[in-house]
Amino acid sequence: MKILVTSALPYANGDIHLGHLAGAYLPADIYTRYFRMKGTDIIHISGTDEHGVPITLKAKQEGVSPQQIVDRYHNIIKESFKGINISFDNFSRTSLSLHHKLSQEFFKRIYSKGLIEKREIKQFYCKQCKMFLADRYVEGTCPHCGNENARGDQCEVCGRWIEPTLLKKPRCKICGSTPEITSTIHYFFKLNELEPSIKKWLQTKPNWKENVLRFSHGWLKEGLKPRAITRDLSWGVKVPLEEAKNKVLYVWFDAPIGYISSTMEWAQKKGEPDKWKDYWLDSKTKLVHFIGKDNIVFHAIVWPAMLMAYNEFILPTDIPANEFLNLEGKPLSTSRNWAVWVGDYIKEFPADPLRYALAVNLPENRDIDFTWKDFQARNNNELADILGNFVNRVIVFIKKYLSGNISLNIQLKAEDEEILKKSKETLNNVAQYIETYEIKRAARCWMDLAGEANKYFDAQAPWKLRKENPERLNTVIYTLTKLVSFFGIVTSPFIPESAEKINRMLGIKGKRSWDEGLNPYVPSHIEEQIILFKKIEDKTINKQIKKLKNPPKEDDRIDIEILKKVELVVAKVLEAEKVKGSSKLIKLLVSLGDEKRTIVAGIGKHYTPEELIGEKIIIVRNLKPAKLMGIESNGMLLAASNNETLTILKP
Ligand code: 2FM
Ligand code: ZN
Repeated sequence: MKILVTSALPYANGDIHLGHLAGAYLPADIYTRYFRMKGTDIIHISGTDEHGVPITLKAKQEGVSPQQIVDRYHNIIKESFKGINISFDNFSRTSLSLHHKLSQEFFKRIYSKGLIEKREIKQFYCKQCKMFLADRYVEGTCPHCGNENARGDQCEVCGRWIEPTLLKKPRCKICGSTPEITSTIHYFFKLNELEPSIKKWLQTKPNWKENVLRFSHGWLKEGLKPRAITRDLSWGVKVPLEEAKNKVLYVWFDAPIGYISSTMEWAQKKGEPDKWKDYWLDSKTKLVHFIGKDNIVFHAIVWPAMLMAYNEFILPTDIPANEFLNLEGKPLSTSRNWAVWVGDYIKEFPADPLRYALAVNLPENRDIDFTWKDFQARNNNELADILGNFVNRVIVFIKKYLSGNISLNIQLKAEDEEILKKSKETLNNVAQYIETYEIKRAARCWMDLAGEANKYFDAQAPWKLRKENPERLNTVIYTLTKLVSFFGIVTSPFIPESAEKINRMLGIKGKRSWDEGLNPYVPSHIEEQIILFKKIEDKTINKQIKKLKNPPKEDDRIDIEILKKVELVVAKVLEAEKVKGSSKLIKLLVSLGDEKRTIVAGIGKHYTPEELIGEKIIIVRNLKPAKLMGIESNGMLLAASNNETLTILKP
């Protein structure tokens, strides 16, 4: 069996948060780690999604290029994944030329088959922002109910879908100005023509998760319509047609192609450039897309339709989409900064407590709330008090009373056989749950066994056997060590760092196979003892809760790149006069040596025109012109102020 696992490509315009982890990456990682231990041929592929309007807007806001934004966040996201131990076989980027080429190939082939058509549409254009506005960037008054803050695609008050050009008093959400309606050409993917094939194909997936089927059938019920797959933007994959040179592919058209291009990049890096074909061209490969529920229709309908139209690669086998994670009772929100960012988390805690707390409480079938208190309880009462305690008491006993030695000369009794049998059942159950994407049950299953193992320890009371029955003690210690060894295997996909610590205590280096869990190795000596989990104190948790509710003020420092663009020059004031009707503004005529300019400055309360004439000042040469009281100002003078006084900078 061959498995190709993908997890949704995160947008490269922010770090990832707990919602991302719970939605796709953690279950995908646990799934992949398990199959690797089974010896299955499996790879886990992902990368950053580096196109789309939000990235260009962020770049604009910060005065940097979109490339600089995606470079920055690609690295931030990669570090976060590394810190939380998501082990991708490849983590690529959609800005790679390999990806652009493949996306263009997709467009060209589908176009040449007549499955893409050209249409003229009406769209809002904002002159101020110099861009066409996607529906969600237009606001205005709802034509149905009069709500003044309706979004271009939907009114939240009356819930109706809106044809954006019918909005009354439309305004650009970015700058507030009134956009105009313009005609533009776009290319539409004729999803309607693929509808019968999609319907038929979905019928072969009766075992898919209920949420995935519900969303997909909901969409199909309305009938598939052609969808625009191009945008008037400069950032993205260029549409490969001479007549559409200034257009790019819609980000959702190129993003899923990233699964293929990332696999190609993986093969190249391996030095086996054709190896990707073993997965994408072999109908026996199982293709599994891990995603959050907001991505369902793209993966269950649009992407398979693209694959069908292109007709070369395999189709998705499974789409185990998760529901949403809430945080302390509210939906996670990037814009309201209601999130726990993975980059912040890993600075303060080890990876495993979060991996475990999320795994035992994944939003597999419904939205789930993450709370810091629950996180603390999972760590303290389960990881530390149950699993950690079991491993610790066994290892400490062996080191303290048996000089670290374990006798392999033993005679198992029924109660020993019983707990070992339970461990085998646990191994099989965990395996089965992982294979059916029930990660939550899988995690609970091995934690239950850790509880049983503690009970076995108590019942056998090795501290009594030391004096009363040393021979029996040997068998009990052997059984206990076998269980410790078992936990080094079964927990490994979930909490890999802790599993490795267990293995180190047992002197086991290198990889262990899943099937070894049926009869785990027992060493004859324990070298070192390592604490697996530290308890997390109330004050640590309270600090996190406080930080969430009162986030540290947003970092308002600017990038050096912005400052580098500012051109400062010395100018001499030739003329100065008060602007009529304003007590604050002074109009200056300045000389830059080879050029004269008018600038309007808000310094009237601190300087008189007379004292400025003849002075040398410093101005920003490359500021865009602005109109102040009807006068165009071409530049800005530098002044420092402490709110009360203001001083002009003079060279
Ligand atoms: O929702 C998102 O974050 C998208 N960037 C997911 C893309 S998944 C795939 F299609 F690439
Ligand atoms: Zn605008």
